[in-house]
Amino acid sequence: MTPEVNSEQAALWNGPGGHGWAAARDMVDVVLQPYEDLLVAAAKERPRSGVLDVGCGTGGVIRAIGAALGDVPCVGVDISGPQIAVAEETANVRFFQADAQVHPFEPEFDLIVSRFGVMFFDDPVAAFRNLRTAARPGGEMRLLVWRGKGENPFMTTAERAVETLIPDLPTFDPDGPGPHSLADPGRVRTVLDDSGWTGIDLRKVDLDCAMPEDALPKYLTMLGPVGRALQTMGEHERDEVLNTVLRAFDPFVSDGEVRFPTASWEVRALAPL
Ligand SMILES: C[S@@+](CC[C@H](N)C(=O)[O-])C[C@H]1O[C@@H](n2cnc3c(N)ncnc32)[C@H](O)[C@@H]1O
Repeated sequence: MTPEVNSEQAALWNGPGGHGWAAARDMVDVVLQPYEDLLVAAAKERPRSGVLDVGCGTGGVIRAIGAALGDVPCVGVDISGPQIAVAEETANVRFFQADAQVHPFEPEFDLIVSRFGVMFFDDPVAAFRNLRTAARPGGEMRLLVWRGKGENPFMTTAERAVETLIPDLPTFDPDGPGPHSLADPGRVRTVLDDSGWTGIDLRKVDLDCAMPEDALPKYLTMLGPVGRALQTMGEHERDEVLNTVLRAFDPFVSDGEVRFPTASWEVRALAPL
């Protein structure tokens, strides 16, 4: 029997969180395109025989890797049913819904990637130990994880703007699974070391992300704690809150574009030979 883990995250990503990301998939792929490019370039560094994308969402990254690598088998796994349901397979790219922390993988991948999909495990050491079972001996892992909130101001702009309007906004527990749970490089090294990965290396990635200004209301309504709160509001309250949040994004808007700096780690590790 599959152990019962990650129940809160499973509920979030199979509920409003996952539906929001599924509905906003085109926009997510535009905003996070620079990070997709980085992982596609990593995949092309050497010949590959199988690539796994962990927490693949609606699959934009692994589809791009699959297209870049020709006929190399590529697989995306995600806990979120709503996102896997709209992830479009291609000749060499397939998807399945599972919890990557406990799914019984076969050692068939020589590259494991993730764009912001590995920060939500309730037991990261168990999860990365399990991911090691998906890697061939000597297989590589390339993960993108967010650095801290202070270095990623756009990620908290909406929450800060509604502090008084929605005082009880549910947000991620700073000490638990969530977008910034692997922001501390020392913690990342300890987690990967304890789960049996070698050659652990963290590199700072600082990239500007952007979207058309007219996409911002949809972005804010679909994603994150504020997006989920907006979806439950009546029209009048929603307009008031959304206008407040949109004003808070003014510093990021110019020439019809929303552009913001982002800060992450590219984490590299190797499965033992
Ligand atoms: C921030 S989203 C990133 C999605 C995608 N990688 C992208 O860049 O568009 C985080 C993803 O991790 C997935 N996730 C969270 N916990 C997971 C788990 N235990 N196993 C597999 N996927 C998980 C979520 O369902 C979600 O799709």
